[in-house]
Amino acid sequence: MTDRNGERQQVVVVVRVEPVGADLQVAPGETIIEAAWRHGYHWPTTCHGQATCTICRVEVLSGTEHLTPVGADEQDVLANRLPGAARLDLTRVRLACRAGATGRVTVLKKGVRRLTTVHLPPADEPPTAGTADGPPETGRAAKQP
Ligand code: FES
Repeated sequence: MTDRNGERQQVVVVVRVEPVGADLQVAPGETIIEAAWRHGYHWPTTCHGQATCTICRVEVLSGTEHLTPVGADEQDVLANRLPGAARLDLTRVRLACRAGATGRVTVLKKGVRRLTTVHLPPADEPPTAGTADGPPETGRAAKQP
């Protein structure tokens, strides 16, 4: 896509993940699970993107036409390794480790959650003592009124 000056514009592709409500910007050539990892989300998997566990699978709620085509490896895994595949509508099931997006898509994936970062003091720093008003102060947030 180009703007009025003929300069190339970066198209922002967003995949919405429910029920967590995450909006993931997916880069060209990136899969949904890679975008989730880059945005700091945990995504259920045991093969970590090798298209063997099927645990990363999503149900596509909308925008199926904006997903990258199903490759042979993904098709094989969905048909032969996905528990209950015969009873599922496989046109609405994709592997997050294989599907990329070219437009707005909404998927359902339980178990996706934002990873939190715990900032610990350096090992050589002694812990501060608590007061009668509460626990020891830690970080900037604890010092605000
Ligand atoms: S991460 Fe295991 S099949 Fe996708």
